[in-house]
Amino acid sequence: MVGRAAVAGLMCLLFGAHALALPTAEDAGLVTRAAGKRAVGYFVNWAVYGRNYQPQDLPASKLTHVLYGFANVNSTGGVYLSDEYADLQKHYPTDSWNDVGNNVYGCIKQLFLLKKANRNLKTMLSIGGWTYSPNFHAPLGTAAGRQQFVDSAITLLKDLGLDGLDIDYEYPASAQEAADFVTLLKQLRQGLDAYSSRVGLPAGSFLISVASPAGPTNYEVMDMAGMDASLDFWNLMAYDYAGSFSNLTGHDANWAASGSNPGSTPFNSQQALDYYKAHGVSPAKTNLGIPLYGRSFTGTTGMGQTFSGVGQGSWEAGIYDWKALPLAGATNTDDDDLLASWTYDSSKQELISWDSMHTMQAKANKAVSTGLGGLMWWETSADRTGGDSAISAQVAILSAAGGMEQRNNVLSYPESQYDNLKACFPSS
Ligand SMILES: *[C@@H]1O[C@H](CO)[C@@H](O)[C@H](O)[C@H]1NC(C)=O
Ligand SMILES: *[C@@H]1O[C@H](CO)[C@@H](O)[C@H](O)[C@H]1NC(C)=O
Repeated sequence: MVGRAAVAGLMCLLFGAHALALPTAEDAGLVTRAAGKRAVGYFVNWAVYGRNYQPQDLPASKLTHVLYGFANVNSTGGVYLSDEYADLQKHYPTDSWNDVGNNVYGCIKQLFLLKKANRNLKTMLSIGGWTYSPNFHAPLGTAAGRQQFVDSAITLLKDLGLDGLDIDYEYPASAQEAADFVTLLKQLRQGLDAYSSRVGLPAGSFLISVASPAGPTNYEVMDMAGMDASLDFWNLMAYDYAGSFSNLTGHDANWAASGSNPGSTPFNSQQALDYYKAHGVSPAKTNLGIPLYGRSFTGTTGMGQTFSGVGQGSWEAGIYDWKALPLAGATNTDDDDLLASWTYDSSKQELISWDSMHTMQAKANKAVSTGLGGLMWWETSADRTGGDSAISAQVAILSAAGGMEQRNNVLSYPESQYDNLKACFPSS
């Protein structure tokens, strides 16, 4: 079966559309499925501009899943792309301007090319995120809104050649909203299974994940067991524990709470993971979120102290890309009990909470020793490249501890509106 799966992928590469007229079960990868760790990276569509980070820059051979964000939701529940230039239209140097037909370019085409070259890479559309999440509440509260959400999200999946959907709803705020979210996920699962059946793929061929909160006031509202029944995995947003919004300087993404300096750890990952597990979410289905950024505090004497502002940041105030850290002149400290790092520059009185490479590696080891399903990174453009990549270093640890998930992506999208994608990009 493994051999036949390889052939199905190869046929796509060699013959394009004609070989794909009848998708095969092997395409979905369920038959080559194996237990293993997940490496899940967010790619944000605004990275193609000032950050100049393109899908081609992703460490595609290291990742098991790319979460492509973000799609937005309209007032009647319709899911739609937030930047059609970056998503569908941008021409890269290898894209022709002379193609005939209705064709897709931009990040979506590049993600599909990555799938062809890396059959273990699954791509998922992430819907929502912090900015668009306020748009979830009203439409998800009605049956018609949920139906339109499901129908339009699945239309995007089959048009864009994606392997799944990631719902980043920050956050359901009441028991009713939590129940509506459970219903939405159940209907999404039913809709995806109906689609896979229609195109000749086994149920479960397409994935659903959620980005889920690490703060108790947010996660205690959720119906975790209800959600879990429809999910392939959970991505715990195990960061943003302290920042400009805090009263004291603190750790952004610490694993444990501090006994000696409790003001520096208003939240911690361990407590969140314990709660999830106690409420029906298996650690093996949970990926620990890792911040590829640091949060700055200025006018401070150290951790757990008052501060007056935040530093300039790489792209927005107070937040530095991981690859920009530590800043010149700052000294790093690692705390192996908390699994947290911070830098301090006494001349500037600036403290930055982050995960150094040492803490990155310690967190990967902790994920393994606590039986978590893998890691998730927010977000890929902020990593270093080559041998200095945090993602690569962490994947090496996951991989050594029993290996990565092996499960082929899907290359057959017979209902796509895009001629070149439906034909599996035969000339690319
Ligand atoms: C929302 O999107 C759907 C398509 O997904 C569309 O049919 C509907 O008209 C849109 N609603 C509004 C208010 O724009
Ligand atoms: C910050 O301090 C104020 C005043 O003491 C308090 O009301 C608020 O809850 C604190 N905020 C946080 C995030 O701890």
